[in-house]
Amino acid sequence: MRITMIGAGYVGLVSGACFAEFGHDVIVLDKDPAKIEALQAGRIPIYEPGLEKLVADNVHDRRLHFTTDLAEAVGGAEAVFLAVGTPTRRGDGHADLTYVFAAAEEVARALTGPTVLVTKSTVPVGTGAQVREIVRRARPDLTIDVASNPEFLREGNAIGDFMRPDRVVIGVESERAEAVLKRLYRPLYLIETPVVATAIETAEMIKYAANAFLAMKITFINEVADLCEKVGADVHDVARGIGLDGRIGRKFLHPGPGYGGSCFPKDTLAFARTGQDYGRPLRLVEATVAVNEARKEAMAARVIEACGGDVAGKTIAVLGLTFKPETDDMRESPSLTVLPLLAAAGAKLAAFDPAMSEFARQSLPASVRYAGNALGAAEGADAVVLLTEWNEFRALSPQKLKAAMRGDVVLDLRNVWDPVAMREAGFRYHSIGRPK
Ligand code: NAD
Ligand code: UGA
Repeated sequence: MRITMIGAGYVGLVSGACFAEFGHDVIVLDKDPAKIEALQAGRIPIYEPGLEKLVADNVHDRRLHFTTDLAEAVGGAEAVFLAVGTPTRRGDGHADLTYVFAAAEEVARALTGPTVLVTKSTVPVGTGAQVREIVRRARPDLTIDVASNPEFLREGNAIGDFMRPDRVVIGVESERAEAVLKRLYRPLYLIETPVVATAIETAEMIKYAANAFLAMKITFINEVADLCEKVGADVHDVARGIGLDGRIGRKFLHPGPGYGGSCFPKDTLAFARTGQDYGRPLRLVEATVAVNEARKEAMAARVIEACGGDVAGKTIAVLGLTFKPETDDMRESPSLTVLPLLAAAGAKLAAFDPAMSEFARQSLPASVRYAGNALGAAEGADAVVLLTEWNEFRALSPQKLKAAMRGDVVLDLRNVWDPVAMREAGFRYHSIGRPK
């Protein structure tokens, strides 16, 4: 099938490459010429394991193409996907739909034949109906079926998530749209992936409800972890003990410094706003947003406390800056809250992240010293704070870490190290929700 992806970000690029891998003929369009030039030259603008090879293979087999030319991109497409950003709207926390509406109108004007216009971006309930109005107004002469196909991939595991999803959700209001989307995802029928075909409004709700539920689950275990510390319980055993109950499930019960990323923070906020708009407040979601924000700040306070209540003039090394491992994405990362608070308290900061990007440097305090590896960052530090659980940090020798540092304080905010081994190496070791 011939399809088009509007937007070459995480979702557009990964979905485009995966649809090509399914055997479809895919054109990915972005309005950012630098991004398209890079992709045409074989450079991948984001850090995502496996993506470079997947793109190269499908470009080589002529199933995947990149362009900035809209007419070329949509000509002959059976389906056009909108995979543009939906960031938080300044001032009120709603999703900013400017990019979605602009893209929908541009696509509608450029179309030369009937097609299915599918919103893959995460959009509040009711957006599909607005997109339908926009395209009808722009092209009353053409049959454009609108549909919703929310995406559930995670950064860092995006290809696996797309190729082997737990489910595919399609929101449709015409038989043609349903048939086109089902044909597109046919390769997944071989692995018996459930397909939830529903109304567009329901599909839109599913996406926000899923992200809000996962964010709530993380926030729940984070608060339970804090209580575990006070009462001498181990949060990992608690998580396992509750998670083995199939009704609860074991995933997303790992405590940490608060969830970040380009999605949970903005989507929980937007979902809460939708609830308020309709006079049906989502109080659990509202509490999740507030607790998570406060948690990121509490992490800086925790570091200061572990350093004896004062970090002025002390050197603190931070390992991991991205919001999770295997991505270079810094959006809403806890590091963006923790590092400025530590710098404001007078700490001298050193940092290392395996996917260090120029953007990361620009978003963090200018005084941060960047090292080429973990031990380089720890050199002469009074305290080490692990913020992101990159695998290479797990393998770090406690003895080598101790030898590099001046002090003996370690805050492992992802619980990757063994408390016994860390204490034996001479550290004053702090983790989350585990007995002292
Ligand atoms: P992104 O910011 O990485 O990429 C969006 C791209 O769209 C940019 O490259 C931008 O230049 C391009 N764009 C914007 N307007 C355009 C237009 N009119 N024409 C052509 N290109 C245009 O965003 P993302 O992380 O890929 O997220 C996209 C959507 O998918 C969001 O709604 C997000 O919530 C959702 N989502 C993201 C993830 C994720 O892991 N990042 C997962 C699931 C869903
Ligand atoms: C998340 C969802 O997992 C995807 O299903 C969804 O498609 C995506 O948002 C989206 O809508 O964009 P992502 O943000 O890429 O994916 O990454 P996650 O693995 O979900 O992690 C999000 C945050 O939660 C990270 O900061 C991570 O460290 C934190 N987290 C996750 C925890 O603190 N504990 C956990 O147990 C799991």
